[in-house]
Amino acid sequence: MIAGSFPSSRPRRNRQSSWSRDMMRENHLSVKDLIWPLFVQEGNNTASKITSMPGVSRLTIDLVVEHAAKAKELGIPAIALFPNTPDELKSEDGYEGVNPENLVCRTVRAIKAQVPDIGIICDVALDPYTTHGQDGIVKNGYVDNDLTLEALINQAHIQVNAGCDIIAPSDMMDGRVGAIRRTLEMREFHNVQIMAYAAKYASAFYGPFRDAVGSGGLLKGDKKSYQMDPANGDEALREVALDITEGADSVMVKPGLPYLDIVRDVRANFNIPVYAYQVSGEYAMIEAAAAAGAGDRDALVLETLMSFKRAGCSGVLTYHAAHAAKLLHG
Ligand code: PBG
Repeated sequence: MIAGSFPSSRPRRNRQSSWSRDMMRENHLSVKDLIWPLFVQEGNNTASKITSMPGVSRLTIDLVVEHAAKAKELGIPAIALFPNTPDELKSEDGYEGVNPENLVCRTVRAIKAQVPDIGIICDVALDPYTTHGQDGIVKNGYVDNDLTLEALINQAHIQVNAGCDIIAPSDMMDGRVGAIRRTLEMREFHNVQIMAYAAKYASAFYGPFRDAVGSGGLLKGDKKSYQMDPANGDEALREVALDITEGADSVMVKPGLPYLDIVRDVRANFNIPVYAYQVSGEYAMIEAAAAAGAGDRDALVLETLMSFKRAGCSGVLTYHAAHAAKLLHG
């Protein structure tokens, strides 16, 4: 790198006017970078506020379809669905997760029928369906890896059968991407994508999400035996390498802002699309800052989203997607 010296070099020359800043800008944020996570609940024409995520609601299927249409209109390429499963359908083994008539599958079918041209991403993990809030099947106090894989394969299968375009395993079991890929190939779903939550950390930023899907109050203990240790970076690269070898089409880093170094490292080491999930706690933090008058909401939203692009993301899952899209459209 060549560095100039003052006064022959004056970095402010390039920043002096708006047209020049436009011309010199290294990264660009577009509505095509945004993926919108939506929470689904049973019922009709009802939006229920999520207290820990001001501005976000759980929606009944009819309203999710409306939101999908709005996303499409705004130019957002894809939405991600998360179910709030009624307590009476939760069980030790999360069996509702493999029911082809479950809330997520019915939602996927409704969206496909009415808003065919938007990408649908479905999570694969058992936590919305288990009475203990863990992402897998618990045996002797431990989330059993290989038993859980059997359930995840079936969960992925019913979701693609319903019309899901992208399977996103968020469970962090070993070997799940390979197991799902083999199943999809065998059952002739050759074109279903897998977006692997490759580097997903055992984070304190998931709290509001767990309220939204109703797993928070149920969760006993933590998820540290499968989600990653926030202290680790090299391990994230091993996780990404495994998921690519097993058949992932894209990978994800989660949470987002506290892990931008991981995004950058993944980008530098692998040539595959990398997404980040700006998670519920990050959303809540921005909303809290704005509500407290500590920062301008719109500016905070756009600046944080741009930082994902600068770190090397191909796109971002964000609860601010629709708002950001409106801002980007001016
Ligand atoms: C489920 C899942 C979680 C999130 C996405 N999928 C929660 C968790 O792992 O406990 C978090 C998303 C968010 O906080 O916005 N496995």
